[in-house]
Amino acid sequence: SHSRCQQTWKEPPGPKPLPILGNLLLIDLKRPYLSLFSMSKQYGSIFTVYFGPKKVVVLAGYKTVKQALVNHAEEFEDRDISPIFADFNKGYGILFSNGNNWKEMRRFSLSTLRDFGMGKRGSEGKIIEETHYLREVFEQFKGNPFDTKQPLNYAISNIISAIVYGSRFEYSDPLFKDMVVWSNENVRLIGSASIQVYNMFPWLRSWVRNRKLIMINRENSIKGINRLVEHLQETLNPQDCRGLIDCFLVHKQKLSSGSTLFHEQNLVYTVANLFGAGTDTTAATLRWSLLLMAKYPHVQDRVQEEIDRVVGGRQPVMEDRKNLPYTHAVMHEIQRLANIAPMSVPHTTTCDVHFQGFFIKKGTSVVPLLTSVLRDENEWETPNTFNPAHFLDKQGRFVKRDAFMPFSAGRRVCLGESLARMEFFLFFTSLLQHFRFTPPPGVSEDQLDLTPAVGFILSPSPHKLCAVSRSV
Ligand code: HEM
Repeated sequence: SHSRCQQTWKEPPGPKPLPILGNLLLIDLKRPYLSLFSMSKQYGSIFTVYFGPKKVVVLAGYKTVKQALVNHAEEFEDRDISPIFADFNKGYGILFSNGNNWKEMRRFSLSTLRDFGMGKRGSEGKIIEETHYLREVFEQFKGNPFDTKQPLNYAISNIISAIVYGSRFEYSDPLFKDMVVWSNENVRLIGSASIQVYNMFPWLRSWVRNRKLIMINRENSIKGINRLVEHLQETLNPQDCRGLIDCFLVHKQKLSSGSTLFHEQNLVYTVANLFGAGTDTTAATLRWSLLLMAKYPHVQDRVQEEIDRVVGGRQPVMEDRKNLPYTHAVMHEIQRLANIAPMSVPHTTTCDVHFQGFFIKKGTSVVPLLTSVLRDENEWETPNTFNPAHFLDKQGRFVKRDAFMPFSAGRRVCLGESLARMEFFLFFTSLLQHFRFTPPPGVSEDQLDLTPAVGFILSPSPHKLCAVSRSV
C-alpha cells in the first residue's frame, strides 16, 4: 500500500539541520559522544544528525548496534574514510581501507598475528618479559608520584614491535622514543575539534594547523618504519620469519608481482595501523586501571587478595585467568567504564539499507555509539558507576555480559582483541601483584578525576600516582 511504501523510505529521525552548520550547535565537538548519547534519549536508538553538511546515522543501545553490526554485517561493514584518514592512509592498510585491499590486509594480519602474537606461547612470553622491564621502571620512582603514561606507552609499543619487527627496543632507543611520541600525538590531534571541523569542511585544508602537525608526524613515522623495513629486508631469511614484516616480504616475493596487493604502501600503512590502533588503546586501558584501583582501594584490596591467594609470588600466566574471577570481573568493569573508543571507528553503508523500518542510503556515514552500549540502561544495573558485580554471579563466579562491547562487533571488530586481552591481563596482574597504587600524598581518593582527556581515544586526564612496592 501507499503508506507502507512511505514507511520503508523514511529516513531515521533527528534534529532539524541548519544550512551549512547542520546540527553543530547541538554538538560539543570536544565530547561529541556525550551529545550523541543524550540525543539518543530524545530521538531513539537510530537517528540522523548533521555534522555540518555531513549526514551521519547514529546507532545507539546494545540491541540496535548488535543488530546492525552482526545481523546486517555486510551492509554496515565499510569504513567511513573521512578527509583526515584519507590524507593519512591513502586507502591502504587495514583501518582506513575498504574492499579487496581491506579484506586481504586484514586476513594477512590476523593470520600472522595468530602465529606471532595471539593464542600461542610466543606472545605470552614476550608480554611477560616486558612486564619485568616495566616493573623496573615503576620501582625506580620508589613510591613517589609519577605520570604512568610514558612507561606504559613504551611497554605496550614494545609488544607490537616484537610482533611486527621481531624484537623489542630499549626504552632509551631514540628512534623508538620518537615513534611512540609521533603516534601518540597523532591520536590526540585527530580527536581535536579543529580536525573534526576539517572533516566537515575539507576545503579548509591549508588553514588547519593541527592537520599540518599530523602530516609531519605521519611523514616522520613512515620514514622510521621504512628504515626498519630496509634493515629487515637486508637480513631476511625466508626460512625463518622474525615478525610480521618478514612474513609480508616473503609473501610479496612468492606472489608474482604486478596485480598483487602486497606492495610497499600496504606494508607501511598496515604496520602504522597496528601501532596506531594497538598502542594508545591498550596503554589507555592500563592507565584507567591503575587510576581506578587508586580511586577504589577496597576493590584493589580484593584483587590483591585474590592474586596473592591464587598466584602467590610467582609470575602470573594466562592459565591463571580462570582461577581469578574477581580480578577478571574488575578488568571487564574497567573496560566498560573507560569506554576508550566511544564512537568506535565510523562505518559507512555498502548499499541502500532498510533497517528497523528506516531507509539508509548507500555510502551514509554510520556511528556505532559504543558509549550507549557500555552504559545502556536496559543492560546494566548501575550504568554510571564502577561496579565489578556487573560481571559476577551470586556465588562470585565470573559472568559474561552481551553488552560488553568495547572492541565493537561484526566484520570490523577489533583485529587485536585477543592480543589486547592477553596484554591487559598479564600487565594488570603483574603490576597489582608487585605494587599498591595510591593517590599522591595530600590527594584524597575522591579528588582523583575520572574526566577523560579530549581525543579520538579516551585516555585519563593527566595525573600522577604512587606505585608502592608490596612485599611478595
Ligand atoms: C579496530 C578497540 C587494541 C588493532 C578497533 C575498533 C575498536 C577497537 C572499537 C573499531 C571496530 C569497528 O570498526 O567497529 C580496541 C580496544 C583495544 C584495542 C578497546 C584495547 C584495549 C588493539 C590492538 C591492536 C588493534 C592491541 C593491534 C594488534 C586494530 C585494528 C583495527 C581495530 C587493525 C581495524 C580493524 C578493521 O578496520 O578491520 N579496535 N582495540 N586493536 N583494532 Fe583495536
